[in-house]
Amino acid sequence: MARITASVYTSHVPAIGAALDAGKTHEPYWQPVFKGYEFSKRWMQERKPDVIFLVYNDHANAFSLELIPTFAIGTAAEFAIADEGWGPRPVPKVIGHPELAAHIAQSVIQQDFDLTIVNRMDVDHGLTVPLSLMCGQPQAWPCPVIPFAVNVVQYPVPSGMRCLNLGKAIRNAVRSYDDDLNIQIWGTGGMSHQLQGPRAGLINREFDNAFLDRLIADPEAQAAMPHIHYVREAGSEGIELVMWLIARGAMADLAGGPPPRVAHRFYHVPASNTAVGHLILENE
Ligand code: DHB
Ligand code: FE
Repeated sequence: MARITASVYTSHVPAIGAALDAGKTHEPYWQPVFKGYEFSKRWMQERKPDVIFLVYNDHANAFSLELIPTFAIGTAAEFAIADEGWGPRPVPKVIGHPELAAHIAQSVIQQDFDLTIVNRMDVDHGLTVPLSLMCGQPQAWPCPVIPFAVNVVQYPVPSGMRCLNLGKAIRNAVRSYDDDLNIQIWGTGGMSHQLQGPRAGLINREFDNAFLDRLIADPEAQAAMPHIHYVREAGSEGIELVMWLIARGAMADLAGGPPPRVAHRFYHVPASNTAVGHLILENE
């Protein structure tokens, strides 16, 4: 039986990827950001997942306004790195896991979630920056990755409760897969940030830290928060945080198991225009 051993949560600020690619990690501005991931890189090497189920949002690179899937699962054998305007990031291509992805699609759709099945898709900073933060700069990513793209760009976006319940369905799907795989689920995006309009640059430390507290200890209460509250308190792009609830919903405690162990928690301002948040939760 496959099992979800841990969930990882992190911001995916593109400037972090650019700083890493340009060798600026030791500059005074960036050093405190990367320091928050030193534990995480060691932890990844020790834990070595067999597959990462990576929840992220595409930023109009794979999808445009012509087609807006709410939830899209990448079922391809591999995914190219998107060109976001400066050429693709110099990182390895992403190897998928078509068999597990197809199984999860089958199971989750039968649990009444509509997923869009994507057999060809380029992946942008939403997916590659978390991989870089957690894995550094390897020749190849350490394991296959199933990209799971959520629409948090074009309204209407899914509610936090739907995201949490989707996470529960993903957990059921993983547990009904026969191979004995160690699977991590990652939720990315956030924390507070607004990239446009009069409130551009908005940061709300109090909201971010309360979100982290509730995500850990009372995810059902966090899931009840309406999307407009994220937008007001965490900025227009702060809505990316609902994706963290998908990963959280897949943890054992929400199916009657013990509470997760907090292996690591990190918060830092600023990185580009955003607050950076990061959390690692382990299933006992
Ligand atoms: C930026 C873009 C993002 O997608 C994000 O989540 C954070 C920051 C940016 O352009 O700075
Ligand atoms: Fe983003």
